[in-house]
Amino acid sequence: MALKLTWYGHATWGIEFAGKRVIIDPFFDQNPACSTKTSEIDCDLILITHGHGDHIADAAALGKRTKAPIICNYEISEWLGKQGVANLTGMNLGGTAKLPFCSVKMTPALHSSALPDGSNGGVAGGFVVTLGGRRIYFAGDTALFSDMNFVGEMGIEVAVLPIGDLFTMGIDDSVTATNLINPKFVVPSHYNTWPPIEQDTATWVEAIKRDTAAEPVVLTAGGSHEFSAFAGE
Ligand code: NI
Ligand code: MN
Repeated sequence: MALKLTWYGHATWGIEFAGKRVIIDPFFDQNPACSTKTSEIDCDLILITHGHGDHIADAAALGKRTKAPIICNYEISEWLGKQGVANLTGMNLGGTAKLPFCSVKMTPALHSSALPDGSNGGVAGGFVVTLGGRRIYFAGDTALFSDMNFVGEMGIEVAVLPIGDLFTMGIDDSVTATNLINPKFVVPSHYNTWPPIEQDTATWVEAIKRDTAAEPVVLTAGGSHEFSAFAGE
């Protein structure tokens, strides 16, 4: 079964696998790189890496309408709960949440996590999502850190890494991160939304091809990529 990854622009991602849809970091309506509106999205699960507006802006609206479970850190789950969102699973770094169709491990990230109204958003994280034995790592907003090596030990097929620099790691550190994680495919995120995080993807592709064993996969905002089935699946 193919694993379909959709980039809605900035750091908002969708996964489709075996008829289930997961949205990571819902930021649609005010996202300058996104042409899809929150009202058009259907999903079975919502994941939120941290409290910044460019990751959580449309979480409450999407959660309320779709009634999809939301997995995020504990502090963010409390904050969403106060806005009338139900079906929340608050967790913390290192934990794994199990759903009928996937499991979600919250990984560390080196980043901040204040919520849009200044509330305490806990600490920032990333997610390793396992669906049907396939593993995809969303690093979230983060600097490079050497413990990405441990994420790699889980066996990552696809790693989605920020490359925009300034607020997260940039191109050079994403190459180092790719070598720590050793995924089969690596996909760039969190760039070209606004001028301060503009990046040249040709430069990134060249560096990944030259300095890592991973295959770079660049999506255009609004576009999708299907990772084909494993042999024997
Ligand atoms: Ni952030
Ligand atoms: Mn961000």
